[in-house]
Amino acid sequence: MKIDKETILKLDRPGPRYTSYPTAPEWSSGVSADTYREQLSNFGNTEKTLSLYAHIPFCETLCYFCGCTMNIRPQEDKYGDEFIGFISKEIDQIARSIGRRKTVRQLHWGGGTPSFLSEEQMIRLFDKIRSVFDIDPTGEIAIEVDPRRISQSKVKTIKDLGFNRISIGLQDFDERVQKEVNRVQPFALVKQFHQWCRKYQFASVNFDLIYGLPGQTQQSFTKTVEQVIALRPDRIALYSFAYVPWLKKHQNKLKADLLPAADEKLEIFLKARELFLQNGYEAIAMDHFALKDDDLAKAFRDGKLYRNFMGYTVKPADEYIGLGPSAIGFLENTFFQNYKTIPEYYRFLKQDELPVERGKVLSQDDQIRKWVIGALMCHFQLNKDNFFQMFHKNFDDYFVDEQKHIQECQNNRLLTVDAQNLVVTDLGKIFIRNICMGFDWYLRQHQAKQKFSRTV
Ligand SMILES: C[S@@+](CC[C@H](N)C(=O)[O-])C[C@H]1O[C@@H](n2cnc3c(N)ncnc32)[C@H](O)[C@@H]1O
Ligand code: SF4
Repeated sequence: MKIDKETILKLDRPGPRYTSYPTAPEWSSGVSADTYREQLSNFGNTEKTLSLYAHIPFCETLCYFCGCTMNIRPQEDKYGDEFIGFISKEIDQIARSIGRRKTVRQLHWGGGTPSFLSEEQMIRLFDKIRSVFDIDPTGEIAIEVDPRRISQSKVKTIKDLGFNRISIGLQDFDERVQKEVNRVQPFALVKQFHQWCRKYQFASVNFDLIYGLPGQTQQSFTKTVEQVIALRPDRIALYSFAYVPWLKKHQNKLKADLLPAADEKLEIFLKARELFLQNGYEAIAMDHFALKDDDLAKAFRDGKLYRNFMGYTVKPADEYIGLGPSAIGFLENTFFQNYKTIPEYYRFLKQDELPVERGKVLSQDDQIRKWVIGALMCHFQLNKDNFFQMFHKNFDDYFVDEQKHIQECQNNRLLTVDAQNLVVTDLGKIFIRNICMGFDWYLRQHQAKQKFSRTV
Protein backbone atom coordinates (compact mmCIF):
# COMPACT_ATOMS: atom_id res chain seq x y z
CA MET A 1 0.00 0.00 0.00
CA LYS A 2 1.29 3.46 -0.90
CA ILE A 3 0.03 6.40 1.12
CA ASP A 4 0.73 9.93 -0.03
CA LYS A 5 2.54 12.31 2.27
CA GLU A 6 -0.34 14.79 2.30
CA THR A 7 -2.69 12.15 3.78
CA ILE A 8 -0.11 11.22 6.40
CA LEU A 9 0.45 14.82 7.47
CA LYS A 10 -3.31 15.43 7.58
CA LEU A 11 -3.97 12.41 9.80
CA ASP A 12 -0.88 12.44 12.03
CA ARG A 13 -2.16 14.01 15.25
CA PRO A 14 -2.21 13.24 18.96
CA GLY A 15 -4.74 10.58 19.84
CA PRO A 16 -5.54 7.81 22.32
CA ARG A 17 -4.83 4.13 21.70
CA TYR A 18 -8.22 3.23 23.17
CA THR A 19 -7.21 0.46 25.52
CA SER A 20 -10.12 1.94 27.45
CA TYR A 21 -13.04 4.27 26.79
CA PRO A 22 -13.40 6.76 28.38
CA THR A 23 -9.62 7.13 28.29
CA ALA A 24 -7.65 7.33 31.54
CA PRO A 25 -7.26 11.17 31.56
CA GLU A 26 -11.05 11.34 32.04
CA TRP A 27 -11.00 9.30 35.23
CA SER A 28 -11.25 10.97 38.62
CA SER A 29 -10.76 10.47 42.33
CA GLY A 30 -14.56 10.38 42.70
CA VAL A 31 -14.30 6.60 42.42
CA SER A 32 -12.87 5.41 45.70
CA ALA A 33 -11.85 2.25 47.53
CA ASP A 34 -15.36 2.17 49.06
CA THR A 35 -16.93 2.00 45.59
CA TYR A 36 -14.46 -0.73 44.67
CA ARG A 37 -15.25 -2.79 47.76
CA GLU A 38 -18.96 -2.49 47.06
CA GLN A 39 -18.53 -3.62 43.45
CA LEU A 40 -16.32 -6.52 44.50
CA SER A 41 -18.98 -7.64 46.92
CA ASN A 42 -21.68 -7.40 44.20
CA PHE A 43 -19.43 -9.38 41.90
CA GLY A 44 -19.22 -12.08 44.59
CA ASN A 45 -22.99 -12.47 44.38
CA THR A 46 -22.90 -13.32 40.68
CA GLU A 47 -21.65 -16.24 38.59
CA LYS A 48 -19.50 -13.92 36.48
CA THR A 49 -15.95 -14.96 35.60
CA LEU A 50 -12.78 -13.02 36.08
CA SER A 51 -9.76 -11.70 34.24
CA LEU A 52 -6.89 -10.97 36.60
CA TYR A 53 -3.96 -8.70 35.85
CA ALA A 54 -0.91 -8.43 38.11
CA HIS A 55 1.53 -5.58 37.56
CA ILE A 56 5.11 -6.32 38.59
CA PRO A 57 6.63 -2.87 38.58
CA PHE A 58 10.39 -3.52 38.50
CA CYS A 59 13.04 -3.56 35.77
CA GLU A 60 16.77 -3.77 36.21
CA THR A 61 17.74 -1.19 33.60
CA LEU A 62 15.94 1.65 31.89
CA CYS A 63 14.98 1.46 28.22
CA TYR A 64 14.87 5.11 27.16
CA PHE A 65 11.77 4.63 25.00
CA CYS A 66 9.73 3.08 27.79
CA GLY A 67 6.17 4.24 28.26
CA CYS A 68 5.23 1.68 30.92
CA THR A 69 4.79 2.25 34.65
CA MET A 70 7.99 0.80 36.04
CA ASN A 71 10.73 1.38 38.60
CA ILE A 72 14.39 0.64 38.07
CA ARG A 73 15.90 -1.52 40.82
CA PRO A 74 18.95 -3.79 41.08
CA GLN A 75 17.87 -7.42 40.81
CA GLU A 76 17.95 -8.16 44.53
CA ASP A 77 15.46 -10.38 46.34
CA LYS A 78 14.52 -7.73 48.87
CA TYR A 79 12.51 -5.69 46.31
CA GLY A 80 10.49 -8.68 45.13
CA ASP A 81 9.98 -9.92 48.69
CA GLU A 82 8.65 -6.59 49.90
CA PHE A 83 6.42 -6.31 46.83
CA ILE A 84 4.98 -9.81 47.23
CA GLY A 85 4.22 -8.98 50.85
CA PHE A 86 2.12 -5.99 49.78
CA ILE A 87 0.44 -7.48 46.71
CA SER A 88 -0.53 -10.45 48.92
CA LYS A 89 -2.28 -8.00 51.25
CA GLU A 90 -4.12 -6.59 48.23
CA ILE A 91 -5.11 -10.09 47.10
CA ASP A 92 -6.44 -10.91 50.59
CA GLN A 93 -8.44 -7.70 50.77
CA ILE A 94 -9.97 -8.28 47.34
CA ALA A 95 -10.80 -11.92 48.12
CA ARG A 96 -12.39 -10.85 51.39
CA SER A 97 -14.56 -8.28 49.60
CA ILE A 98 -15.65 -10.78 46.94
CA GLY A 99 -16.46 -13.24 49.69
CA ARG A 100 -16.08 -16.45 47.69
CA ARG A 101 -13.71 -18.26 45.32
CA LYS A 102 -14.00 -17.07 41.72
CA THR A 103 -12.72 -18.64 38.52
CA VAL A 104 -9.99 -16.77 36.67
CA ARG A 105 -10.31 -17.31 32.91
CA GLN A 106 -7.53 -14.96 32.01
CA LEU A 107 -4.43 -14.29 34.06
CA HIS A 108 -1.79 -11.86 32.89
CA TRP A 109 1.43 -10.84 34.60
CA GLY A 110 2.73 -7.62 33.09
CA GLY A 111 4.97 -4.79 34.04
CA GLY A 112 7.61 -3.61 34.35
CA THR A 113 9.12 -7.01 34.08
CA PRO A 114 7.49 -9.99 35.84
CA SER A 115 10.63 -12.06 35.24
CA PHE A 116 12.44 -9.61 37.55
CA LEU A 117 11.11 -11.89 40.31
CA SER A 118 13.19 -14.92 41.25
CA GLU A 119 11.77 -18.39 40.57
CA GLU A 120 10.96 -18.83 44.22
CA GLN A 121 9.20 -15.47 44.30
CA MET A 122 7.19 -16.30 41.17
CA ILE A 123 6.05 -19.55 42.76
CA ARG A 124 5.15 -17.71 45.96
CA LEU A 125 3.07 -15.12 44.12
CA PHE A 126 1.35 -17.72 41.94
CA ASP A 127 0.52 -19.82 45.02
CA LYS A 128 -0.89 -16.75 46.72
CA ILE A 129 -3.22 -16.09 43.79
CA ARG A 130 -4.19 -19.77 43.69
CA SER A 131 -4.96 -19.75 47.40
CA VAL A 132 -7.98 -17.49 46.82
CA PHE A 133 -8.90 -17.95 43.14
CA ASP A 134 -9.48 -20.99 40.90
CA ILE A 135 -7.44 -20.64 37.75
CA ASP A 136 -8.98 -22.20 34.65
CA PRO A 137 -6.05 -24.10 33.08
CA THR A 138 -7.67 -23.80 29.63
CA GLY A 139 -7.78 -20.02 29.96
CA GLU A 140 -5.14 -17.56 28.79
CA ILE A 141 -2.37 -17.57 31.36
CA ALA A 142 0.21 -15.13 30.10
CA ILE A 143 3.41 -13.50 31.26
CA GLU A 144 5.77 -10.82 29.93
CA VAL A 145 9.48 -11.47 30.25
CA ASP A 146 12.68 -9.68 29.40
CA PRO A 147 14.88 -11.97 27.27
CA ARG A 148 18.04 -10.33 28.60
CA ARG A 149 17.48 -11.63 32.09
CA ILE A 150 16.04 -15.08 31.95
CA SER A 151 17.45 -18.56 32.32
CA GLN A 152 16.27 -21.89 30.98
CA SER A 153 15.34 -22.89 34.48
CA LYS A 154 13.15 -19.79 34.90
CA VAL A 155 11.37 -20.51 31.61
CA LYS A 156 10.69 -24.05 32.86
CA THR A 157 9.40 -22.76 36.20
CA ILE A 158 7.07 -20.36 34.37
CA LYS A 159 5.68 -23.25 32.31
CA ASP A 160 5.39 -25.54 35.33
CA LEU A 161 3.38 -22.88 37.13
CA GLY A 162 0.78 -23.12 34.37
CA PHE A 163 1.55 -20.16 32.13
CA ASN A 164 0.64 -21.12 28.56
CA ARG A 165 1.56 -17.87 26.82
CA ILE A 166 4.78 -15.98 27.01
CA SER A 167 5.67 -12.60 25.58
CA ILE A 168 9.01 -10.88 25.27
CA GLY A 169 10.07 -7.34 24.66
CA LEU A 170 12.23 -7.44 21.55
CA GLN A 171 11.69 -3.99 20.00
CA ASP A 172 14.48 -3.96 17.39
CA PHE A 173 17.49 -6.15 16.56
CA ASP A 174 19.60 -3.37 15.07
CA GLU A 175 22.63 -2.79 17.25
CA ARG A 176 22.73 0.94 16.59
CA VAL A 177 19.06 1.37 17.54
CA GLN A 178 19.56 -0.85 20.59
CA LYS A 179 22.38 1.39 21.77
CA GLU A 180 20.33 4.55 21.19
CA VAL A 181 17.52 3.22 23.37
CA ASN A 182 19.80 1.66 26.00
CA ARG A 183 18.63 -1.87 25.42
CA VAL A 184 21.28 -4.10 23.92
CA GLN A 185 20.01 -7.60 23.26
CA PRO A 186 21.66 -9.65 20.53
CA PHE A 187 19.82 -11.96 18.16
CA ALA A 188 21.57 -15.05 19.61
CA LEU A 189 20.09 -14.34 23.02
CA VAL A 190 16.53 -14.05 21.71
CA LYS A 191 17.03 -17.17 19.59
CA GLN A 192 18.16 -19.10 22.65
CA PHE A 193 15.19 -17.87 24.63
CA HIS A 194 12.79 -18.79 21.83
CA GLN A 195 14.23 -22.33 21.71
CA TRP A 196 13.53 -22.72 25.43
CA CYS A 197 9.94 -21.54 24.89
CA ARG A 198 9.49 -24.17 22.19
CA LYS A 199 11.15 -26.84 24.29
CA TYR A 200 8.67 -26.24 27.11
CA GLN A 201 5.79 -26.03 24.64
CA PHE A 202 4.08 -22.76 25.35
CA ALA A 203 0.83 -22.58 23.38
CA SER A 204 1.83 -19.17 22.10
CA VAL A 205 5.01 -17.10 22.00
CA ASN A 206 4.72 -13.38 21.34
CA PHE A 207 7.42 -10.86 20.38
CA ASP A 208 6.89 -7.12 20.97
CA LEU A 209 8.42 -4.86 18.34
CA ILE A 210 8.37 -1.08 18.15
CA TYR A 211 8.53 0.98 14.96
CA GLY A 212 9.51 4.63 14.99
CA LEU A 213 12.45 4.34 17.38
CA PRO A 214 15.42 6.69 16.95
CA GLY A 215 17.90 5.56 14.34
CA GLN A 216 15.46 3.14 12.72
CA THR A 217 15.23 3.13 8.94
CA GLN A 218 13.07 1.08 6.66
CA GLN A 219 16.16 -0.87 5.69
CA SER A 220 17.34 -1.56 9.24
CA PHE A 221 13.88 -2.56 10.44
CA THR A 222 13.37 -4.83 7.43
CA LYS A 223 16.38 -6.79 8.66
CA THR A 224 14.86 -7.00 12.16
CA VAL A 225 11.59 -8.24 10.70
CA GLU A 226 13.41 -10.87 8.62
CA GLN A 227 15.20 -12.09 11.72
CA VAL A 228 11.89 -12.28 13.58
CA ILE A 229 10.28 -14.21 10.73
CA ALA A 230 13.20 -16.65 10.78
CA LEU A 231 12.43 -17.46 14.43
CA ARG A 232 8.70 -17.71 13.74
CA PRO A 233 6.98 -16.64 16.95
CA ASP A 234 3.21 -17.29 16.97
CA ARG A 235 2.34 -13.66 17.50
CA ILE A 236 3.91 -10.28 16.97
CA ALA A 237 2.81 -7.02 18.50
CA LEU A 238 4.14 -4.23 16.30
CA TYR A 239 3.67 -1.07 18.35
CA SER A 240 3.89 2.45 17.11
CA PHE A 241 6.48 4.24 19.23
CA ALA A 242 4.58 6.45 21.68
CA TYR A 243 6.88 9.43 22.07
CA VAL A 244 5.56 11.37 25.05
CA PRO A 245 8.58 13.06 26.70
CA TRP A 246 6.26 15.47 28.55
CA LEU A 247 4.86 12.44 30.40
CA LYS A 248 7.91 10.15 30.43
CA LYS A 249 10.84 12.44 31.19
CA HIS A 250 13.44 9.76 30.49
CA GLN A 251 12.41 9.80 26.82
CA ASN A 252 14.35 13.09 26.70
CA LYS A 253 17.47 10.91 26.78
CA LEU A 254 16.62 9.85 23.21
CA LYS A 255 18.08 11.90 20.38
CA ALA A 256 15.00 13.57 18.94
CA ASP A 257 16.78 14.32 15.66
CA LEU A 258 17.15 10.57 15.07
CA LEU A 259 13.41 9.92 15.25
CA PRO A 260 12.00 8.96 11.85
CA ALA A 261 9.59 11.55 10.40
CA ALA A 262 5.90 10.63 10.20
CA ASP A 263 6.09 9.44 6.58
CA GLU A 264 9.26 7.42 7.21
CA LYS A 265 7.70 5.90 10.32
CA LEU A 266 4.66 4.82 8.37
CA GLU A 267 6.84 3.36 5.62
CA ILE A 268 8.69 1.31 8.24
CA PHE A 269 5.35 -0.05 9.46
CA LEU A 270 4.00 -0.75 5.98
CA LYS A 271 7.12 -2.60 4.88
CA ALA A 272 7.10 -4.69 8.06
CA ARG A 273 3.41 -5.40 7.54
CA GLU A 274 4.02 -6.49 3.95
CA LEU A 275 6.81 -8.86 5.03
CA PHE A 276 4.72 -10.46 7.79
CA LEU A 277 1.80 -10.94 5.40
CA GLN A 278 4.07 -12.48 2.76
CA ASN A 279 5.45 -14.91 5.31
CA GLY A 280 2.37 -16.60 6.68
CA TYR A 281 1.24 -14.08 9.27
CA GLU A 282 -2.22 -12.54 9.35
CA ALA A 283 -2.73 -8.90 10.27
CA ILE A 284 -4.81 -8.73 13.43
CA ALA A 285 -6.63 -5.48 14.12
CA MET A 286 -4.47 -2.40 14.64
CA ASP A 287 -0.99 -3.61 15.49
CA HIS A 288 -0.77 -7.40 15.81
CA PHE A 289 0.22 -10.25 13.52
CA ALA A 290 -0.31 -13.94 14.15
CA LEU A 291 0.19 -17.28 12.46
CA LYS A 292 -3.02 -18.62 10.93
CA ASP A 293 -3.59 -21.25 13.64
CA ASP A 294 -2.93 -19.00 16.60
CA ASP A 295 -5.99 -18.25 18.76
CA LEU A 296 -5.64 -14.53 18.13
CA ALA A 297 -5.90 -15.02 14.36
CA LYS A 298 -8.88 -17.36 14.78
CA ALA A 299 -10.62 -14.91 17.09
CA PHE A 300 -10.10 -12.04 14.66
CA ARG A 301 -11.51 -14.09 11.76
CA ASP A 302 -14.52 -15.10 13.88
CA GLY A 303 -15.20 -11.55 15.10
CA LYS A 304 -14.36 -12.62 18.65
CA LEU A 305 -11.45 -10.35 19.39
CA TYR A 306 -11.68 -7.96 22.34
CA ARG A 307 -9.63 -5.07 23.60
CA ASN A 308 -8.79 -4.09 27.13
CA PHE A 309 -5.92 -2.45 29.03
CA MET A 310 -3.72 -5.45 28.23
CA GLY A 311 -4.29 -4.86 24.51
CA TYR A 312 -6.08 -7.29 22.20
CA THR A 313 -7.37 -10.45 23.82
CA VAL A 314 -9.17 -13.63 22.90
CA LYS A 315 -10.91 -14.88 25.99
CA PRO A 316 -12.46 -12.07 27.86
CA ALA A 317 -14.00 -12.81 31.18
CA ASP A 318 -17.00 -10.88 32.42
CA GLU A 319 -15.08 -8.63 34.80
CA TYR A 320 -11.50 -7.45 35.37
CA ILE A 321 -9.45 -7.02 38.49
CA GLY A 322 -6.03 -5.37 38.53
CA LEU A 323 -3.37 -6.00 41.17
CA GLY A 324 -0.24 -3.97 41.82
CA PRO A 325 0.68 -0.32 41.33
CA SER A 326 -1.14 1.41 38.43
CA ALA A 327 -3.21 -1.72 37.72
CA ILE A 328 -6.70 -1.22 36.29
CA GLY A 329 -9.92 -3.08 37.01
CA PHE A 330 -13.37 -2.95 35.43
CA LEU A 331 -16.39 -4.10 37.42
CA GLU A 332 -20.03 -3.36 36.68
CA ASN A 333 -19.24 -0.66 34.15
CA THR A 334 -16.80 1.09 36.45
CA PHE A 335 -13.08 1.53 35.94
CA PHE A 336 -10.76 1.46 38.96
CA GLN A 337 -7.06 2.28 38.96
CA ASN A 338 -4.53 1.77 41.72
CA TYR A 339 -1.97 4.37 42.79
CA LYS A 340 0.96 4.36 40.41
CA THR A 341 3.89 4.99 42.71
CA ILE A 342 5.23 2.21 44.91
CA PRO A 343 5.29 4.32 48.13
CA GLU A 344 1.62 5.29 47.73
CA TYR A 345 0.61 1.76 46.78
CA TYR A 346 2.40 0.37 49.86
CA ARG A 347 1.12 3.12 52.17
CA PHE A 348 -2.56 2.26 51.64
CA LEU A 349 -2.02 -1.47 51.98
CA LYS A 350 -0.02 -0.91 55.16
CA GLN A 351 -3.18 0.69 56.55
CA ASP A 352 -5.25 -2.27 55.32
CA GLU A 353 -6.89 -0.13 52.65
CA LEU A 354 -7.34 -0.87 48.98
CA PRO A 355 -4.96 1.43 47.06
CA VAL A 356 -7.52 2.81 44.58
CA GLU A 357 -6.57 6.25 43.29
CA ARG A 358 -9.17 6.98 40.66
CA GLY A 359 -11.74 5.57 38.28
CA LYS A 360 -14.80 6.23 36.21
CA VAL A 361 -18.41 5.13 36.42
CA LEU A 362 -19.61 4.76 32.83
CA SER A 363 -22.76 6.63 31.84
CA GLN A 364 -25.00 5.05 29.23
CA ASP A 365 -23.44 7.29 26.59
CA ASP A 366 -19.97 6.08 27.67
CA GLN A 367 -21.11 2.48 27.32
CA ILE A 368 -22.51 3.12 23.85
CA ARG A 369 -19.35 4.83 22.63
CA LYS A 370 -17.16 2.17 24.26
CA TRP A 371 -19.03 -0.45 22.24
CA VAL A 372 -18.70 1.52 18.99
CA ILE A 373 -14.96 2.11 19.49
CA GLY A 374 -14.50 -1.55 20.46
CA ALA A 375 -16.28 -2.74 17.30
CA LEU A 376 -14.15 -0.49 15.09
CA MET A 377 -10.86 -1.33 16.84
CA CYS A 378 -11.43 -5.11 17.04
CA HIS A 379 -13.57 -5.99 14.01
CA PHE A 380 -12.90 -3.09 11.65
CA GLN A 381 -16.61 -2.79 11.05
CA LEU A 382 -19.80 -1.83 12.73
CA ASN A 383 -23.24 -3.18 11.96
CA LYS A 384 -26.08 -0.78 12.71
CA ASP A 385 -28.52 -3.65 13.39
CA ASN A 386 -26.16 -5.06 16.01
CA PHE A 387 -25.98 -1.58 17.51
CA PHE A 388 -29.79 -1.46 17.64
CA GLN A 389 -29.97 -4.89 19.25
CA MET A 390 -27.47 -3.83 21.90
CA PHE A 391 -28.87 -0.43 22.79
CA HIS A 392 -32.38 -0.21 21.23
CA LYS A 393 -31.36 2.96 19.49
CA ASN A 394 -31.02 3.88 15.84
CA PHE A 395 -27.33 4.44 15.06
CA ASP A 396 -27.85 7.39 12.70
CA ASP A 397 -30.28 9.12 15.05
CA TYR A 398 -27.94 8.68 18.00
CA PHE A 399 -24.81 9.86 16.22
CA VAL A 400 -26.15 13.01 14.55
CA ASP A 401 -23.16 15.13 15.61
CA GLU A 402 -20.78 12.45 14.31
CA GLN A 403 -22.19 12.43 10.76
CA LYS A 404 -19.71 15.09 9.68
CA HIS A 405 -16.82 12.98 10.99
CA ILE A 406 -18.18 9.85 9.29
CA GLN A 407 -18.45 11.80 6.02
CA GLU A 408 -14.88 13.07 6.44
CA CYS A 409 -13.68 9.51 7.00
CA GLN A 410 -15.42 8.53 3.76
CA ASN A 411 -13.85 11.48 1.91
CA ASN A 412 -10.45 10.45 3.25
CA ARG A 413 -11.09 6.83 2.13
CA LEU A 414 -10.93 5.54 5.72
CA LEU A 415 -14.49 4.19 5.82
CA THR A 416 -17.14 2.90 3.45
CA VAL A 417 -20.68 3.35 4.66
CA ASP A 418 -24.00 1.91 3.54
CA ALA A 419 -27.45 1.69 5.13
CA GLN A 420 -26.34 -1.09 7.50
CA ASN A 421 -22.57 -1.01 7.91
CA LEU A 422 -19.54 1.10 8.57
CA VAL A 423 -16.58 -0.78 7.11
CA VAL A 424 -12.99 0.27 7.71
CA THR A 425 -10.95 0.35 4.47
CA ASP A 426 -7.33 -0.86 4.23
CA LEU A 427 -6.21 2.75 4.61
CA GLY A 428 -8.58 3.18 7.54
CA LYS A 429 -7.01 0.18 9.27
CA ILE A 430 -3.75 2.12 9.42
CA PHE A 431 -5.56 5.17 10.80
CA ILE A 432 -8.08 3.38 12.97
CA ARG A 433 -7.31 5.64 15.95
CA ASN A 434 -8.35 8.67 13.86
CA ILE A 435 -11.67 7.00 13.00
CA CYS A 436 -12.37 6.20 16.65
CA MET A 437 -11.44 9.69 17.80
CA GLY A 438 -14.55 11.07 16.10
CA PHE A 439 -16.73 8.97 18.42
CA ASP A 440 -14.90 10.09 21.56
CA TRP A 441 -17.20 12.55 23.29
CA TYR A 442 -14.54 13.76 25.74
CA LEU A 443 -11.97 14.47 23.06
CA ARG A 444 -14.46 16.77 21.37
CA GLN A 445 -15.02 18.70 24.60
CA HIS A 446 -11.37 19.57 25.05
CA GLN A 447 -9.41 18.82 21.92
CA ALA A 448 -6.31 16.84 22.89
CA LYS A 449 -3.15 18.86 22.70
CA GLN A 450 -0.09 16.98 23.82
CA LYS A 451 -1.75 14.52 26.16
CA PHE A 452 -1.54 11.56 23.79
CA SER A 453 1.04 10.09 21.47
CA ARG A 454 0.63 10.77 17.74
CA THR A 455 -1.51 8.51 15.60
CA VAL A 456 1.33 7.85 13.14
C1 LIG B 1 6.08 -4.22 29.95
S1 LIG B 1 6.99 -4.25 28.47
C2 LIG B 1 7.35 -5.93 28.11
C3 LIG B 1 8.13 -6.77 29.12
C4 LIG B 1 9.52 -6.32 29.51
N1 LIG B 1 9.44 -5.20 30.38
C5 LIG B 1 10.40 -6.03 28.34
O1 LIG B 1 10.48 -4.87 27.95
O2 LIG B 1 11.02 -6.95 27.82
C6 LIG B 1 5.68 -4.00 27.36
C7 LIG B 1 5.96 -3.57 25.95
O3 LIG B 1 5.49 -2.25 25.73
C8 LIG B 1 6.11 -1.73 24.60
N2 LIG B 1 6.44 -0.32 24.86
C9 LIG B 1 7.06 0.18 25.93
N3 LIG B 1 7.20 1.52 25.81
C10 LIG B 1 6.63 1.86 24.61
C11 LIG B 1 6.44 3.08 23.92
N4 LIG B 1 6.86 4.24 24.43
N5 LIG B 1 5.81 3.05 22.73
C12 LIG B 1 5.36 1.89 22.20
N6 LIG B 1 5.51 0.70 22.82
C13 LIG B 1 6.14 0.69 24.01
C14 LIG B 1 7.36 -2.54 24.34
O4 LIG B 1 7.22 -3.22 23.10
C15 LIG B 1 7.40 -3.49 25.50
O5 LIG B 1 7.90 -4.75 25.14
S1 SF4 C 1 10.52 -1.66 28.05
FE1 SF4 C 1 10.23 -3.29 29.55
S2 SF4 C 1 12.31 -3.63 30.40
FE2 SF4 C 1 12.40 -1.70 29.35
S3 SF4 C 1 12.05 -0.21 30.97
FE3 SF4 C 1 10.06 -0.60 29.96
S4 SF4 C 1 9.07 -2.17 31.14
FE4 SF4 C 1 11.27 -2.15 31.70
